[in-house]
Amino acid sequence: MSQIDPKLAQKQAAATAALDYVEDDMILGVGTGSTVNCLIELLSSVKLKGAVSSSKVTEDKLRALGIEIFDLNSVGELDLYIDGADEIDDLGNMIKGGGGALTREKIVAAASKRFICMVDDTKTVKTLGKFPVAIEVLPQARSYVARKLVEMGGEPVYREGFVTDYGNVILDTYGLQIDNPAQLEAQLNNIVGVVCNGIFAAQAAHIMLKASEQGVDTVKF
Ligand code: 5RP
Repeated sequence: MSQIDPKLAQKQAAATAALDYVEDDMILGVGTGSTVNCLIELLSSVKLKGAVSSSKVTEDKLRALGIEIFDLNSVGELDLYIDGADEIDDLGNMIKGGGGALTREKIVAAASKRFICMVDDTKTVKTLGKFPVAIEVLPQARSYVARKLVEMGGEPVYREGFVTDYGNVILDTYGLQIDNPAQLEAQLNNIVGVVCNGIFAAQAAHIMLKASEQGVDTVKF
């Protein structure tokens, strides 16, 4: 008999908890990643008006379910954005971008009233930074930005063979000291050639749904 992967079961549990916040006739902001994929599988039980997607991958999955995709420019502010994260601290600050969709994710999150973050308990941290910070960079600026990141104490690694939905490249940056996530987020954005970075402090989560072996905890920030 095949056994369900416990991590997958936790992602499904967090996604099931997130579904409680989704209402009929909503235009839902939908993130990207394996946890979000669990949520997408549940969305046919809701009569959404449609969705704004944070990536082409998510868009394809939503379309396959018959969910209408709206351009963010045509819908104004969204009530709700739901996504996963790579790390989250006890204030709701996150590192995201493991899947490389950080820029579009941050845009949709910024345009939403509430951000619900679904994680398992291995992703909660006291201080962000064990997971590398993905930094989306215009291709021409890659080496320049990498040098600036080294000056800041980071160790940028070019994500080879990966191009973002916007045609840019990613530097996964290890070793950054993230004592003040909002400050570092702004500082990274200030480097010429940086499109976006994976620290989500200005767009921190409002609610975390944290799955563990014991069940799903709801944490409001
Ligand atoms: C993609 C992301 C994802 O939300 C993050 O990487 C978590 O993914 P998963 O749910 O697969 O663990 O930021 O850019």
